[in-house]
Amino acid sequence: MLEAGVAPSRLFVVERDEALHNLLVKRFPQVRILLGDAAELTTLLRPLGISRASAIVSGLPLLAMRDSVRDRIVEESFAVLAPGAPFIQFTYGLASPIPRRKLGVRGEVKSRVLNNLPPASVWLYHRPTATAA
Ligand SMILES: C[S@@+](CC[C@H](N)C(=O)[O-])C[C@H]1O[C@@H](n2cnc3c(N)ncnc32)[C@H](O)[C@@H]1O
Repeated sequence: MLEAGVAPSRLFVVERDEALHNLLVKRFPQVRILLGDAAELTTLLRPLGISRASAIVSGLPLLAMRDSVRDRIVEESFAVLAPGAPFIQFTYGLASPIPRRKLGVRGEVKSRVLNNLPPASVWLYHRPTATAA
């Protein structure tokens, strides 16, 4: 994301694993790397004064999570996202890693990386705003 031109000051990274968190802090000192659970995203961001995000990019293993944890992460994410803003998810599964109807989101595959092993997909989701629904 930094290479793609996202300003470090606009990037907040959430990682639950302490060892990976420490590595990321060392490698990307200009980015705010938060140690915590994405299921508590609003609580993690509140002390930083962040109540609105313009996008969330997730490499979380949603397919391996309990439904309740996955749903909580999606709800916390859309609570933080600005209206209409995207939730972008990498996945190795073929089907949507987020149950769209259940969670009231729209989503589609934006790209497939077939030469990755296993092949990966990038899904882009948004939650329709009341006026757009
Ligand atoms: C497949 S790796 C992705 C690594 C990297 N973030 C990326 O997108 O390329 C999944 C990462 O999600 C982290 N993770 C899993 N559940 C989490 C949660 N509830 N909150 C924050 N991080 C979590 C794991 O510790 C692991 O580092």
